[in-house]
Formats: sequence, C-alpha cells, structure tokens
Amino acid sequence: MPQANYKLLLDAGERLDSNALEMLQLDRLQWSLAHAFENNKAYTKLLNEAGVRPDEVKTLSDLAKFPFTTKDDLRAAYPFGFFACPREDVVRIHASSGTTGKPTVVGYTKQDITTWADLVARSIRAAGGRPGMKVHVAYGYGLFTGGLGAHYGAEALGCTVIPMSGGQTEKQVQLICDFEPEIIMATPSYMLAILDEFRRQNIDPRASALKIGIFGAEPWTNEMRAEIEGAFAIDAVDIYGLSEVIGPGVANECIETKDGPTIWEDHFYPEIIDPKTGGVLPSGDFGELVFTSLTKHAMPIIRYRTGDLTRLLPGTARTMRRIERISGRSDDMLIIRGVNVFPSQIEELILKTPGLAPHYVLEVRRPERLDMLTVKVEARAHETDERRQDTAQTLTARIKTHIGVSVHVDITDPNSIERSTGKAKRVIDMRSTILPTQQ
Ligand code: DLL
Repeated sequence: MPQANYKLLLDAGERLDSNALEMLQLDRLQWSLAHAFENNKAYTKLLNEAGVRPDEVKTLSDLAKFPFTTKDDLRAAYPFGFFACPREDVVRIHASSGTTGKPTVVGYTKQDITTWADLVARSIRAAGGRPGMKVHVAYGYGLFTGGLGAHYGAEALGCTVIPMSGGQTEKQVQLICDFEPEIIMATPSYMLAILDEFRRQNIDPRASALKIGIFGAEPWTNEMRAEIEGAFAIDAVDIYGLSEVIGPGVANECIETKDGPTIWEDHFYPEIIDPKTGGVLPSGDFGELVFTSLTKHAMPIIRYRTGDLTRLLPGTARTMRRIERISGRSDDMLIIRGVNVFPSQIEELILKTPGLAPHYVLEVRRPERLDMLTVKVEARAHETDERRQDTAQTLTARIKTHIGVSVHVDITDPNSIERSTGKAKRVIDMRSTILPTQQ
C-alpha cells in the first residue's frame, strides 16, 4: 500500500509528533503517579520511603527520582496488594506463571480491558492485519495474558477470532486448513511445532491461507523469523509485552520495516537502566528495560524492572521509539566459565549452520567445579551420520569464535527434542549445586 494511504489507517496516538507525544506522556505520567500514590498503600509506602511525591514531576526525566518496582514487590503484596481501585471494579485477573514461588497477579478494570484491546488491535494492524480478516489465536488461554489479550484485540480490530489456544496440534493444522485464517498468533516455538505437524500430515504449509504471523512471549531471532517466513510464505512480526505492564501489545513490530517492536509510548513510558547501578542509561545504550504505565487504572505500575535486556532505538515506521529485539532476560543469561551466553545467541548460530533444525535445548552441568554447556540440537531430516559429525564441529567452532565459549554439541535425531505448546524451555540446568557467579 502506498505510504500516504497507509498513514490514513493510523489512530490518533500513532499520529502524534514527538513534541505532542511528550506533552501527552508528561500529562499522563503525572496522573498515573498521583493515582498510584493516592490509591494504593504499597505505592504510598514505596514513594514515602524514597522521599518523592508525584507533584515533583515537572519533566519526563524527573521520573528517574522514583523508586523501581520489582517482581518481588508484587509478590510480597500477593495477591491483590497492588490494586489501586476497589476490588469490585476489577473485571479480570491474570497471573504470570512464576516457575518458583507465587505468581504475580495483575488486575484490569473495564476501562483497562478496553485500553489493552485497543493496543492489541493497533498491534495487529501494525503487523498488517485488517478488519474482516480471520485470526487464529494459538497463544494459551487462561491466566496467561497471551490468549485472551490477542483475542480481545483481534475482536476490537473487527477481525473474526478463532480461539484455538495452545496444544492439540493436529487440530490446529486442521482448523488452519479448513477455516483459512490470514493471521496466526502464537509463540514462535509453538509455530515450529505446528510446522512439524503440517509436514507430518504431508500438507504444504506454504499453500495455507496464512499471510501474517504475530509471534512473541519469548525471545526469538531474525534467523528464526527467516525460517518461519520461508516455511509458511508469511510475514512474521514480533509482539512484545508482559503481564505486569498489561500483557501482549506493549510494543509491536511494524510490517513495513520489521526492525524491532515499536513501543506504544502513549501508554507506557520506557527507560533503559544499568541493571547493576539502577542508573538511567543514555539513549541507545544496552541495558534493562523499565516501564511506567501511563493510563492503567486497576494496577498502575511505576518503573517496573522487566529483567529484559535491550536498547531503545529511534522511531522509523512510527514517531514512537522502538526496542531492539529482546536478546534475553537477565535471569536467562548463562555464565559459562566467565562468559555471558544467551540462548538466542546460540539459536542464531544454529540457524546459520546448514543441516541443523531450529529445535534445540541447552544443558548446563557442573561435573567438577567448571560449568559445561551442551547444545542439543536436532538434525534436519535426511542428514547422514557423517554429515552430522562435520556439522557438530562447525557449530562448536562457530560458537567458540562468535561467543567465546567452548561447548559440546550433540546433534540428535529429528523430533527428539520436546516441543513446546507455549513458551519454550531453552535451558535445562543440571548443576546440583549453584556456586556464586564465576565472573
Ligand atoms: O508473555 C505476554 C505476551 C503474550 C507477549 C503473547 C507477547 C505475546 P509474561 O508471561 O508475563 O507475558 O512474560 C513476559 O516474556 O518479560 C519477556 O521476557 C518475554 N517476552 C514477551 N514477549 C517477548 C518478545 C507475556 N517478543 C516476558 N521477545 C517478558 C522476547 C518476550 N521476549
């Protein structure tokens, strides 16, 4: 579509120039901080302890004086201690599935659900979706925000929703073939499981009606994008979000540029901080992403530490800024004999190595006092044993050159690595004792 026509589709928030956007952000930030401070005891305490008051915020940079909120703060107030409205006004609860300890609980008023749906609608439109299209939602429904978040957004855009949820992969393929959705929303790793199933049933994935995939909820690489786009003949774009901030639709990649998710900055104010010192980093520096909500009622969030590592980039397809594709979370980072390793770095090299399929898992062991990393990765179909050995050597050497760590590569048979129906588990930690970091 010519650019001029495309711009007509943008909503009022997306059309703001940077000055108008900043004015709106400041206005909303002042409201949001006051709302949290006045209506939630946990925030009253946090702000009082830090000696700051919402009326001190005269510019956006004044936010840096405010304390952070962490997952631990939310857990300490489990389940509803961060709500800033009467519990009866909360029409929906979601929770993020902490692998350890209690989950973090989030709540939404009716207005929050509308805001969220509008942002996911904006995200689907940014991905190339249009009213009237059919959207197959394969994110899990339930406490996880993926399924219902995608669902309400697709409805708000005026699409026909197919609420399939995750799992029942055979049926996913059947419905994609029979209902002919143009759009699919799933984790990228689950999309690969759906791809396997197409092939198992001898159905050509490129012949499906799918045109657009909106993938997120876990880190993935541009190499994985190329793999999925090629296999299905679709455009694959990145959707980012987290429960504590709202769910999916905090940021979404625009199909015309595919250069990292645009943050919907009229609703969420981003900062990048040094994870060690907590200091705000200059624009463009790499660090931990922090968000402050600007419009949420039930559960406003002040300077929430996401744990996600990335950098802020200037706007391209929109005025609003982008994030670089998330390379990983600080807690997913492995430290192998002093070298920091993210699963996504290994994924990139796997997919650049001919003969290897995009299914992998990283096993960490500590046989003596040193950590050992085994990269278990599947061979593509029809790879001979001899070729597998060469490929293992090639990948080992590439990982050593590009990441600087010696690993053991174990190439396994096709379909031997467990498939995910939601977020993939990339790291299996087999260390029996955890020593302090070895850096
Ligand atoms: O995963 C929300 C979501 C659902 C986003 C569907 C996109 C699609 P949580 O379960 O709270 O919420 O997990 C949030 O997942 O802090 C990131 O570490 C990771 N994450 C989410 N989207 C991406 C992405 C949902 N596009 C956590 N790339 C976040 C990399 C992502 N990581």
